[in-house]
Amino acid sequence: MSSPPSIKQITGELDLLESDAALEIAKASDQDSLEKLRINLLGKKGRLSGILGVMGRLSSEERPLIGQRANSLKTQLQALLAKRIEELKSASLADQLINQTLDVTAPASGIPIGHRHPLIATSEKIVDLFCGLGYEVAQGPEIENDHYNFSALNIPKDHPARDMQDTFYLSNNLLLRTHTSPVQIRHLEKNPPPVRIVSPGRVYRRDAVDATHSPVFHQVEVLAIDEGLNFSHLRGTVMAFLNSFFGELPVRFRASYFPFTEPSAEVDVQWRGKWLEVMGCGMVDPSVLEGLGLDPCRWSGFAAGLGVERFCMVRHGIDDIRRLYTSDLRFLQQF
Ligand code: DAH
Repeated sequence: MSSPPSIKQITGELDLLESDAALEIAKASDQDSLEKLRINLLGKKGRLSGILGVMGRLSSEERPLIGQRANSLKTQLQALLAKRIEELKSASLADQLINQTLDVTAPASGIPIGHRHPLIATSEKIVDLFCGLGYEVAQGPEIENDHYNFSALNIPKDHPARDMQDTFYLSNNLLLRTHTSPVQIRHLEKNPPPVRIVSPGRVYRRDAVDATHSPVFHQVEVLAIDEGLNFSHLRGTVMAFLNSFFGELPVRFRASYFPFTEPSAEVDVQWRGKWLEVMGCGMVDPSVLEGLGLDPCRWSGFAAGLGVERFCMVRHGIDDIRRLYTSDLRFLQQF
């Protein structure tokens, strides 16, 4: 058997363990490696036990000296390990706080939400522009009767617009309104002039579907009644509106005929090299005013009916009206 180790040698090893351990503990960069280090230093088969393995061979005077030194080293290393573990814990917490903060301003992960259909958005834009000119919104029913849809608008019994070909009749007297003009009558019955209204809504006609026709479509009706209104007020209003809506597209007024206006015009805008009709308009026919008990010598006014689909198609460059009704998401998501 080799000669018993000297106290000096063991103390030297304990000193070396002390300085190595202090360095390694300080270097440990996470809790796992610190735990491995603890086992390595203080575990049953660790460095300290290894050094103390020779204790049995020390004399009874030497043993307590080394024992004391070993115990105090153990306590010291445990304290260093405990301190380091706290440091690592708070560093990892700080790290989490920085990296896992919830950014409440970040965009949500995208629950799909709907949005305005381009037709409705166009109708609202038209209405908004007229509201900016002082007009109010009025509404009327989609199921109308003969009186409001035709007679009160000076559309005689034999007028082709009443034809079964054009109108969806629900009964002899009830029908799906073919235009928004009946709102003019309903509004004037309840509201004495001066009035300025816009009325957006759906209208129905027995048209076959093609690139420019649909049996259900949308109009915005415009009506202004006051003292002293004339055709230049109509033209000025229409031009102001069209310029705000389209910018500077070329516009032309074309003489036309509607039973409820005199004189009447159709308004075209130039689009893709062609003239495209976007509205009918005119000075309200005196007989319509008389039918409402209004004196045409005192009151005059103008009216217009705008085709919302046309406005929408020009605005967005859509070439086929059917795209507006087929609910194809690939199309709708572009707006
Ligand atoms: N109601 C007509 C139509 O649907 C459009 C129209 C023309 C409305 C002239 C008006 C107007 O108010 O003055 O064809």
